[in-house]
Amino acid sequence: MPQKSVINYMQKIVIKGNKELSGKIKISGAKNSVVALIPAAILSDEEVTLYNVPNISDTKSLLDIIKLLNGKAEYKDETLKIDCHNIQNIVVPEDLSNKLRASYYFMGALLSKYKHAEIYFPGGCNIGSRPIDFHIKGFEKLGAKVTIEGNKYTFDAEHLKGARIYLDFASVGATINIMLAAVKAEGTTYISNAAKEPEIVNVATFLNNMGAKISGAGTSEIKIEGVDRLGKGVIDVIPDRIEAGTYIIIGALLGKDLTIEGIIEEHVEALLSKLKEMGVNIKVKKNKILLNHPEKFNAINVKTLVFPGFPTDLGQPMSALLTQADGMSIFEETIYENRMGHIKYLQKMGANIIVNERTAIITGPTKLKGQAVEATDLRAGATMVIAGLIAKGTTTISEIGHILRGYENIVEKLTEVGADIKIIEVED
Ligand code: EPZ
Repeated sequence: MPQKSVINYMQKIVIKGNKELSGKIKISGAKNSVVALIPAAILSDEEVTLYNVPNISDTKSLLDIIKLLNGKAEYKDETLKIDCHNIQNIVVPEDLSNKLRASYYFMGALLSKYKHAEIYFPGGCNIGSRPIDFHIKGFEKLGAKVTIEGNKYTFDAEHLKGARIYLDFASVGATINIMLAAVKAEGTTYISNAAKEPEIVNVATFLNNMGAKISGAGTSEIKIEGVDRLGKGVIDVIPDRIEAGTYIIIGALLGKDLTIEGIIEEHVEALLSKLKEMGVNIKVKKNKILLNHPEKFNAINVKTLVFPGFPTDLGQPMSALLTQADGMSIFEETIYENRMGHIKYLQKMGANIIVNERTAIITGPTKLKGQAVEATDLRAGATMVIAGLIAKGTTTISEIGHILRGYENIVEKLTEVGADIKIIEVED
């Protein structure tokens, strides 16, 4: 009996560009917050509720781990109820942990709850080596012993004791993971040179709502007084400032009375100030931003930094905008060593960019032309969508799984404001 050939299909995004966009885009809950809040839920002995949870593949991947650990999760209309009082502390397997970076938050949460955790190295965007040495140093300072066998990490502690932990770099992940591991430790923990991103404040608020004693989140000095137990808790996931930034950049390029709704202005301040420097007219009213694209953009320099500096996650999308600026712009990426994967595709579309390691010299304005391109990681994928929206002709983006990991309903949201964009299935 001849083998039936299996036809694999893959999805691509197809965009017909160069159209003005008008109307409203509502921002979803923050990916980089919800991916920490879900693992944090296992610290509670009771049911917890998360509101404004984005329907993205990273949410699903983390709920798969919760279910593997025998936790209960009910997700409906952006509301997620999680009940972990019956969970079991079993190994988190590689095929689940390597789906995303944030699986590493189960290290801190399981260690905190059971003083034992076994989990494989996390996945995530290929934008640099991305070690987890700061996380491990923090866990060891609290009294954990770490064993590494291949890709598998085992954490054990007889006691977790409060400690003073200085971070060599203000790492988002290490700050949150140490907070998770320290909330139930004996005594008080201090994290110095802590990261200050808004997602850290959202996680600390959730833990405090469940009964933790954390102060100083959002500053570089965080204090955590250990408590015996955590109970019922609710939290609103903050709006996604990176999703918002992506649409604000699209609005700067193509907006004609385009409103981005549901933002927190302080969270996108670095971006707004750069756009004003470029000559973009921006009106902010409460949690809404109204955008109209200018005739021309001033060339500027952008350097990515930790919060409240210009976010690295908006660096790639910003470089697409800089291709339209009048003159030479210098873009510098300081957080990751390998976050320029999108440049070759912008060049393929006609952009004039010279790259030297982590610096890109972008000269414009250049008329981009639709091409077949690839999403090399999540934000590179968003950059291809932006480039496709401003390009003449048709752009086809492959590897869109990267994009769907972090942008809820991106095709629907853009279609609603007049973009010609769709997802197609093609034979692989
Ligand atoms: C978080 O990653 C975000 N991911 C990233 O967003 C974001 O780019 C990053 O913070 C910086 O803002 C999530 O929240 C899930 P870091 P994280 O620890 O925590 C080095 C996106 O597109 N480092 O602050 O992994 C590291 O290699 C993603 O949504 C160590 O050397 O970032 C990097 O160069 C991409 N050792 C720098 O520090 C460590 O133990 C910042 O990393 C930890 C980090």
